[in-house]
This record gives sequence, C-alpha cells and structure tokens, in this order.
Amino acid sequence: MDVDIGNALSSVASPGLSRDALEALDEQVAVAHERIEMGRANDEHGYAALNLPNTTDPETIRSAVDPVVDADTLITIGIGGSALGAATITDALADAGDGTETLYLDNVDPAWVNQRLEGLDLERTAINVVSRSGTTAETLANFLVVRDAFDAAGVDWTDRTVVTTGDSGPLIELAARHDLPAVTVPDGVPGRFSALSAVGMVAAAVCGNDLEALLAGARAEADTLTGSLFSCPAYAYGATTYALDARGVSMNAMMPYAESLETYAEWFAQLWAESLGKDDLGQTPVRALGVTDQHSQLQLYRAGPRDKLVTFVTPRNRPNRPIPDTDVEALSYLGNATLGGLLEAEFEATEASLAAAGRPNVRVELDRVDAYEIGGLLYGMEAACVLAGELYGVNAFNQPAVEWAKKATRGLLGGGDFEEAEAVAEKETLR
Ligand code: PA5
Repeated sequence: MDVDIGNALSSVASPGLSRDALEALDEQVAVAHERIEMGRANDEHGYAALNLPNTTDPETIRSAVDPVVDADTLITIGIGGSALGAATITDALADAGDGTETLYLDNVDPAWVNQRLEGLDLERTAINVVSRSGTTAETLANFLVVRDAFDAAGVDWTDRTVVTTGDSGPLIELAARHDLPAVTVPDGVPGRFSALSAVGMVAAAVCGNDLEALLAGARAEADTLTGSLFSCPAYAYGATTYALDARGVSMNAMMPYAESLETYAEWFAQLWAESLGKDDLGQTPVRALGVTDQHSQLQLYRAGPRDKLVTFVTPRNRPNRPIPDTDVEALSYLGNATLGGLLEAEFEATEASLAAAGRPNVRVELDRVDAYEIGGLLYGMEAACVLAGELYGVNAFNQPAVEWAKKATRGLLGGGDFEEAEAVAEKETLR
C-alpha cells in the first residue's frame, strides 16, 4: 500500500502536523520499531502476528478444507477477530473466487439467524467454526443452532465442518468427539491480528482465493518495516494518526472507495478500537464508504468539529463500465464517462473538498483490489496499529474490556462463577 499524508500537514490542515513535528516523531518511531523488531524476533505475544506472512502455511489450510471445498455456500461462525478478517478477505476478493456464497454468523439475534439459515440447501453447505479461545458464547451457541438445523434436515454436518481453534477448550473437544478437521490458531496471535492465519484464511481457501498471493503481498509490506516513518507506509500511517490524535483529532473515519472494501472498514474499526482503546486513550474509528457516505456523513467531516481524520483507501485500477449516452442535454457530461471515472472524480473531489476546508485526511492507495494488495493492506494496517500502540504506550494486544463482558455474559447464563456478572445486577435505573 502507498500512504500519502500530504493532507495531514499543517500547511493544509488544522489541526495538522508540521514537518518539524514529523521529524521529532520519527525519533520515537525508531525506538518503537526496535521494540517491535525485538518482539517479532522472540515471537512475543502479539508481535508474533507480524510474522504470519512467513509462518502461515497455505498447504495446511487447503488440506483441512479439502472435504468441504466443493460447497456452494460456506457459513462461517465466529465473532470479532474470528470473523472480520475472513469476511474482509472473501468480500474483497469475491470476484476472484470460485463463486462460493459466503455467509457470516456472528450475531445471535434469533430473527437474523433464522433469516440467514432460511432456504439454504444444507446438502451443498459447509460450516467453518472459528474461535481462538473455543469458549465464546455467541460462536458456540450459533454452532449448536446450525448443527441442529443440519440434523433437522437429515444432513450429516460432521463431514461438512472445519474447526479453527486453540489447543484447548470446548470447541477442540467437540472437534475431537466428532472427528472434525481442526486447524490450530497460531500461538501469540490475538484475534484481530489473525486475518493472515488460518483464522482468516480458511474461508478464503474454501472460496478458491489465492492464499499465496495474500501472503506475498503481506510479506512485501513487512519488508518496508524500517525504523523511519519516511520510508515505511505503515509507520507513516500509524505515526500520523497518533500525532493527530495528540492534537485533538480523536476520530478516524475509514472511507474506502470500493464497495468490496466495505467490510475492510469494519475490520479496521475493530483493529483500531480494540487494540488502542486503553487507559483513556485511542482514536474512535468510524466506518464510511465512498461514494455512498458523501451524501450523508461528509457534511460533518467537512464542517463539524475539528476532531476527525478521514482515511481514504482507493485502488488505482478497478473494473470499469461505460455510462450509456442519452439525448438529454443536461446529462451529456455523463455520456462519454464511465462509472469508474465518476467514482474517481467523486473521490478526488471529496479529498480536495476536505483539504480546502483544512480537514486532515490521508490517502491509502492500492494498485488494485486483489489478493496481493489485500494481504499488504491488512498487514500494513496491523503494523500501523502496533506502532501506534507503542507510541501511545498501551498494550495493543489485550482486550480486558471485551473479556469483562464475555465473562459477565457467561456468568449471567450460569456458565461459571464470574464476579463481572454481579455488576449487571447492580445497575441503577432512572426511567
Ligand atoms: O480480537 C479479539 O481478541 C476478539 O475480537 C476476539 O477475536 C473475539 O472476541 C472472538 O474470540 P474467540 O476467537 O476466542 O471466539
């Protein structure tokens, strides 16, 4: 990925960053980089995720999915980091796959789950259950519900299920009991940093996406990790967001200009929020989509409080389609144009309009939306996030607030004796 921070400079934006401030920040980046490299060298928890391009083995993943690779539909059951990486990849690369329909079950809203399962040809459907801990209530509940739907239809789910989980916990126990193919989540890789492991790539393998290209793109991005933000796009992004946040830019609207990257914005929001939201620090990520949100959120981004960074992600090359001509004079400007040309013009106009209003924005460019570039984008944003974590001085790899709620939920359902559940009963009411 290429990162252009020109519109975040103080010569354009307010708040913005001066070149002197960037030079000073670069010294902190160098120190943070040393820490990151040490973590990678020792495969330390979290930092190990930045080694995935070299440690993930596509063959292992492909052989685990072999029994289900002919499915017409793949249901992935997982939540958070155990769903969003896979969904980002398969949504971005849907046109490059083998046509397998993908369906993600993360929420446990019964109306939504019922509707998703309605009318599926279960004979032609495979199940991909993903949970690092193997204990997440939503994932296990949805798995039990889906199994039951297969049983009710008289379809054997055991030869249509792949499990991705850690070495222990109820999910690995279930896998062993039913002799299901199981892929292990690598050690030291937190959920939201696991897109480039089996967690994110089992679904991609079933969909026929190019795993080697995903990893090659990520490796190319890893090769840019140097000690300076001036020579590393990922660090330029992480350092810029951190420095803008320190100047009051506490929100980050991720706005891809490609429909297929809408899920990527969700993935980014999780990565940024769950990794950096600690100790009263962290930018609030917001999801937006170009051009759609030009007609809604853009008003606020250009004229609302000066607390927002807009991050554009745009491919330089995309499939195109001509806009048919018409004899209506007022529409003649569209006649010789293309939808792609219109999208580009909208993007450039939006970027310029924010700069003209002095609002910081960053352009992340991909060559195109393909497996290589998506691997690079996911890796680059993870590295940016790890760097930002170092600069903030927070542990980007834990998620105590998320774990708190998980324990409270299990406690409320009688799944263990968790003090977190007691706090629920203590809620104050004012109606
Ligand atoms: O990033 C994280 O750690 C979380 O979002 C987890 O991925 C999410 O809570 C699901 O956890 P698990 O994979 O253990 O089911």
